[in-house]
Amino acid sequence: MKKHLLIIALIITFSSCKNKTISETTPVNLRYKKLLEYPLDSLALPRSINFKTNKIKTIKSTDWCSGFFPGNLWQIYALTGNDAYKNKAKQWTAYIENEKFNNRTHDMGFKIFCSFGSGLKHENNEDYKQIIVESAKTLSTRFNENIGSIRSWDFNKDVWQFPVIIDNMMNLELLFEATKISKDSTYHKLAIKHANTTLKNHFRPDNSCFHVVDYDTVSHQPRMKVTHQGYSDESAWARGQGWGIYGYTMAYRYTKDKRYLDRAKATADFFINHKNLPEDGIPYWDFNDPAIPNAPRDVSAATVVSSALVELYGYTKNETYLNYSKKVVNSLESKNYLLDETIQAPFILDHSTGNWPKKDEVDEPIVYGDYYFLETLVRLKAQ
Ligand code: GLY
Repeated sequence: MKKHLLIIALIITFSSCKNKTISETTPVNLRYKKLLEYPLDSLALPRSINFKTNKIKTIKSTDWCSGFFPGNLWQIYALTGNDAYKNKAKQWTAYIENEKFNNRTHDMGFKIFCSFGSGLKHENNEDYKQIIVESAKTLSTRFNENIGSIRSWDFNKDVWQFPVIIDNMMNLELLFEATKISKDSTYHKLAIKHANTTLKNHFRPDNSCFHVVDYDTVSHQPRMKVTHQGYSDESAWARGQGWGIYGYTMAYRYTKDKRYLDRAKATADFFINHKNLPEDGIPYWDFNDPAIPNAPRDVSAATVVSSALVELYGYTKNETYLNYSKKVVNSLESKNYLLDETIQAPFILDHSTGNWPKKDEVDEPIVYGDYYFLETLVRLKAQ
């Protein structure tokens, strides 16, 4: 009798699970489904959740964050092999194409490379290649040969002449790849010039970096080194350190310039050994906020760095880097950071901080926190 009951129980269990692998029911995989189920809308890509209003903040393709949501679907496809994610990724990616002609921003890499570039890792799509090259051409129009940099922002013209932010390093991947696709070395050369100028002017003796360096358009020299999203001009804004670490690790991938590797290592060491980095590896939004330990965390800074350090480990074989990435994943897959299954929104992780000085997207789920988390998982899987 008992044996019969056991067989029936096994049949029921097997039939309810036969279309799933065990991993599809883990808390993180249950979050993936929320991204898949989110309704397509070319004018409303998800960016964050405002818990005060309980509303999802959505954006048009022009926003610097538009490429991350399509990129998240591509990366979940990479992790699960489930074609449903790939099909959705293609649909969302198509909504970003208009940006290839948008010369009013430096955020081309985030928009185009995180969407079309992520797609290109999974299919040899000629249209995607052309879009990446066209976008690189547009981004190149923001390069100033005398200063040796791409201009980041066009706003605040009464204060800044030619602002360059550390985040801008992230756009270089688009340029490096555009040269590989087109065989036109212009983009690669320009990326190197930008990386060299940033190397010279953005970093401090303690290996942290400034957020904004503003250049004089006549002398072509730095005229001020300030912050826009950090606590103060001299503080170490956590995500900014992440952009620097990721940017120089990636630039080393394409150039094998040892100065870039040394830069990435030194800033990574500053980050992971900082006395204000909490035990679980998820930094406060700025290492110098006097409110620490009561300051908000920034999951996105942790994931940018965890992804970069998987790559940096590949070049250095320094286990400290890989251990940091694994620690971050371990922390983020816990209930402290993972969004609860009952929250109907297309995000995975809580507790990112977008723009603390403007009190905008503080301690919320933000799409790029998820993007670099998923990229960390993809990179760890490939180890
Ligand atoms: N690139 C803008 C940011 O990191 O918030």
